Amino acid sequence: MKDTLQKLSSTSVFLHWIVALFMIVLMGVGWYMAENDAYALYGLHKSFGLLIVVFVLWRLVHRLMNGFPKPLGQQGAGLNALATLVHWVLLIGTVLFPLSGMMMSVMGGHGLQLFGLELIANNPDLANPGKNLPLDGDMARNARQVHGLLLWVMLTAIVLHVAGALKHHLVDKDGTLKRIMGKPLQ
Ligand code: HEM
Ligand code: HEM
Repeated sequence: MKDTLQKLSSTSVFLHWIVALFMIVLMGVGWYMAENDAYALYGLHKSFGLLIVVFVLWRLVHRLMNGFPKPLGQQGAGLNALATLVHWVLLIGTVLFPLSGMMMSVMGGHGLQLFGLELIANNPDLANPGKNLPLDGDMARNARQVHGLLLWVMLTAIVLHVAGALKHHLVDKDGTLKRIMGKPLQ
C-alpha cells in the first residue's frame, strides 16, 4: 500500500517507529557508555548500531521512492520548509551515525562484530596482548568526532521534530500525529 494524504502505509509507520526507537536508545546508551567508560556496553551498542542499518537503508530507499508524506494543516510555507529540513537532517543522521561508528571501530583496529559474528577482523597489537593497533588513527579520531557531534545535531533535530508533532496535535489539532501512528483520517 502507498502513502496517501489520509493514511500512511504500514511500511512507513513501521520504519518510522523502529528507526526512531533504536536511534533514541542507541544515543542514550552511546552517551552513557562513553561518559562512564562502560566498556561492557560497547559490544551491544555496536551490534545494535549495525543491525539498525538494515532498517535505515530500507527506510531511505522507501522514502526516496515514495517521497515524504504531504503536510496536513495550514502552518505556512516557513514552518513546512523547517519541517522538511528537519526530516532530511534526521534521515541523513540515521545513515551517518552507524557509518561513523563503523569507521571509528574499523580504523581504530577493533574490527566489526555483529553479536559475536566477526564481519571484519580486528588488528591485534602483538606487543600488547589483548590490545588492538589502529589501522589509521587520524581517521578513527575524526570518525569519533563526527559520531560525538551527531549526538548534538540529532538531539536538536529530534527536539524540534517532537515539538512540531506536539504543535500539530495540541495547537493545530490536525491529524499529523495520528497519521504517523498508522491511524486513518476521515
Ligand atoms: C517520540 C518521538 C517522535 C515523534 C512523536 C515523531 C513524530 C512524527 C510525525 C508526527 C511525523 C509525520 C510528519 C508529517 O506528516 O509531515 C514524523 C515523520 C518523520 N519522522 Fe518522526 N517522530 C519521532 C521521532 C523521530 C526520530 C527519532 C526520527 C529519526 C531519527 C524521526 C524521523 C522522522 C522522519 C524522517 C519523518 C518524515 C517522514 C518519514 O520518513 O517517515 N522521528 N515523525
Ligand atoms: C544508529 C546507530 C548509532 C547511534 C545512534 C550511536 C550513538 C552514539 C552516541 C550518542 C555515542 C556517544 C558519543 C559521545 O558522547 O562522544 C556513541 C558512542 C560510540 N559509538 Fe555509537 N551509535 C550508533 C552506531 C554505532 C556503530 C555501528 C558503532 C560501531 C560499529 C558505534 C560505536 C561507538 C563507539 C565505539 C562509541 C564510544 C566512543 C568513545 O568511547 O568516545 N556506534 N554512539
